[in-house]
Amino acid sequence: MPRIPEDILQRIRDATDIADVVGEHVQLSKKGRNLFGLCPFHNENSPSFSVSPERQIYHCFGCGAGGNVFKFIQEIDRVSFVEAVTFLAQRASISLPQHDAQSRAHSEASDEIYRANELANKYYHHMLLNDSAGQNALTYLRDRRLSDETIERFELGYAPAEWDGLLKVAGRRGLNPQALERAGLALQRQSGNGYYDRFRDRATFAINNLSNRTIGFGARALQSEQEPKYLNSPETAIYHKGQVLYGLSHTRDAIRRSDTVIVVEGYMDLLSMVQAGIENVVATSGTALTEDHCRALARYAHKIVLLFDGDAAGSNAAMRGVEIALGSGADARIVSLPSEHDPDTFVQTEGTDALLALAENGQSALDFYLNQISKQHDLNSVQGKSQAIETLKPLLARLRDAVRRDLMMREVAQRLSVDEGALRQEMHHVVQRQQRTARTPSAEPAKTGDHIPEAPRREREFIGLLLHYPQYIRAASDQLDVEGLESTACRTLLQTLYDHFSEASAIDLSLLMDHVQEEHLGRLVSECAMFGFSEEQVDEQWKQSLSFFQRNALQRRIMTTRQALAQAEQSGDDGEVLRLSGELVKLNRQRQHHAEAQTS
Ligand code: CTP
Ligand code: MN
Repeated sequence: MPRIPEDILQRIRDATDIADVVGEHVQLSKKGRNLFGLCPFHNENSPSFSVSPERQIYHCFGCGAGGNVFKFIQEIDRVSFVEAVTFLAQRASISLPQHDAQSRAHSEASDEIYRANELANKYYHHMLLNDSAGQNALTYLRDRRLSDETIERFELGYAPAEWDGLLKVAGRRGLNPQALERAGLALQRQSGNGYYDRFRDRATFAINNLSNRTIGFGARALQSEQEPKYLNSPETAIYHKGQVLYGLSHTRDAIRRSDTVIVVEGYMDLLSMVQAGIENVVATSGTALTEDHCRALARYAHKIVLLFDGDAAGSNAAMRGVEIALGSGADARIVSLPSEHDPDTFVQTEGTDALLALAENGQSALDFYLNQISKQHDLNSVQGKSQAIETLKPLLARLRDAVRRDLMMREVAQRLSVDEGALRQEMHHVVQRQQRTARTPSAEPAKTGDHIPEAPRREREFIGLLLHYPQYIRAASDQLDVEGLESTACRTLLQTLYDHFSEASAIDLSLLMDHVQEEHLGRLVSECAMFGFSEEQVDEQWKQSLSFFQRNALQRRIMTTRQALAQAEQSGDDGEVLRLSGELVKLNRQRQHHAEAQTS
C-alpha cells in the first residue's frame, strides 16, 4: 500500500475547503459559525449535519457520522483513504508521487484516455448547443421532451456527420489518433491507413464515473433507418461496462436519501425519470445488469427496483437480471410496465405519480422468478417442482449471506410446498461444492471496524475541552495517565494529543484525524470537538475533570496492584509481595492526599 507523505496530505488539506467539498453533495446553510444541512449518511427531515469551516470537519448529531474531508470522501464515495486522497489531490491540482515505472506508465495511459473523453465531451456538447450542425440533434432531443436544463446537466451532445471531426479537434490539442483509438473514440481504417471517428451524426450521452469524469459515451441515431439505434464506447482501460452505471454520479445522493434505487435499461429512460422528479434511478448502459453493478448499488441503497419494459419482462435478459439481483442478496423488487411502454414513455404519458406507485408495488424477485418459471413448468406437479428447484439451486447457492439463504429456502419450500428439511439437505451439498470453487469476491463486505463503543460523555467532553483549549494538553500529559480514562478509544485520542499536540497553540483537527485514522477514531474526534464551552467556566471544568480522571487512574492502579499482590502471595514470591505492598501503601496515601486536596 503506497504511503502518501505527510507534507502532501498537508498541501491537499490546505488547498481544500471542506465546506466546498461537502457543498457538492449537501445543500448547506450558515447557522452561527457552522454550516448545516441534511445528512447524506442517513435519512432525515431536519438538518442535523454540521460542517465547521473553521475546524475543517463535519459531524452529524443524528447518526454520529463525522470526520475530516478525506473521511467525507471515503464515506460518500465508498472509497479507500488512498482513493479519497487521490481524488482530492486531483481536485486541487496537486500531483501525487508515482511509485514505479509500471504504474506511472499505466496512469499516463489512463490520463490520456481521460483527456480524450473529456475533450470529446466538450466538443460534442458544444456542437449540440452552439453549432448549426447540431441543430437537428437539438430539435430531436427537444422533441423527445428533454428540457435544456436536462441537456445541460447530463451534458448531452452531438457528434457531427464527419469522418474526422473529433480527430481534427483532438489533433490541435496534441492528442494523437492512437490516443483516441485507445479511448474508443476513433477506429483504424480497414486499409490500415489512418483513422476515423467512431461516433458520427448521433446524439451523445456522456457516461461519467463517480468522480464525474467522462469515461465513455452512448450515441443514438437520429433517424430510424440509421443502424444501430445505439452505438456505445467499447471497453477501455478506464471504462468497464459491467461496473459503471449511467447517471449514478448525478443521482447517488437521491438514491442514498431514499434508500432505494430504480434500475432502468435506457439512457432516455433515466433522463425522462430524473426530469420528471424521480431522481433515485440509474441505467445499465448498453449491457446487462451484473453482480458488480449490484454491489456498487448496495453501497447506496438497500432496496433495488428493477423496472422492465412491458415486453421485456420474462425475456432472457430480464430473467438474467432478476437472477443477478436475487443472487446479490439485495432486497430486489421487480416491476413490469404495461406492454408497449418503457419507463420513458410511461412517465411522459402517465406521469410521475403513476410510475412511483408502480415502483412501490413491485413483486419480490423470488415471486417474480417463480412466476416466470411457472409459465414453463407446472409447479403443482412433482416434476415441475423438481425442475423449478433445479433452476433455483445455483441461485440459492450463490447467496453469500447465510441468513438470506436460509430465509429464501424457507420461502421457496413454502411457495412450492415441498419439504423444507429435504430442500435444505440438498442445498447443503450444492452450497459446499459451490463455495469451494467460488472465486474470492472482488468487493469486500463493508468493514464494521468503524463502529466504536460509546465512550462516557464525561470523557468525550474532556477531550473536547483539550481540543478547544490545547494549552491544557501539556499539563494533562504531566499530571494525568491515560489510564484514568475508561474508554480505550478516548485513551488513544488522549495519547495522540500528548504525543503530537502538547506544544500546539491550536489544534488542526483535520491533521489529528489523519493521525488516528487507522484506529477509526475520526468520528469520535468530531463528536468531541462539537462540545461547546463557556470561557468563564473552562478553567473550573478543567480542574474538576483532571481531578476526576486522576482519581480514576489511582483507583485503577490500586486495583491492579491489589490483584498482582494477591497473585504474588499465592505463588509465595516474598520479594514481590514486599514490593507490591509498599506500592499499595504509596498509592493509597496518594489517594488520601487527593481526596483531602479536593475538600480543602
Ligand atoms: N442499447 C444498446 N444498443 C442498441 C440498442 C440498445 O446499447 N443497439 C442499450 C442502450 O443503452 C439503450 C438501452 O439498451 O438505452 C435500451 O434500448 P431500447 O429499449 O431499444 O431503447 P430505448 O432506451 O427505449 O431508446 P429510445 O427511447 O431512444 O428508443
Ligand atoms: Mn425508449
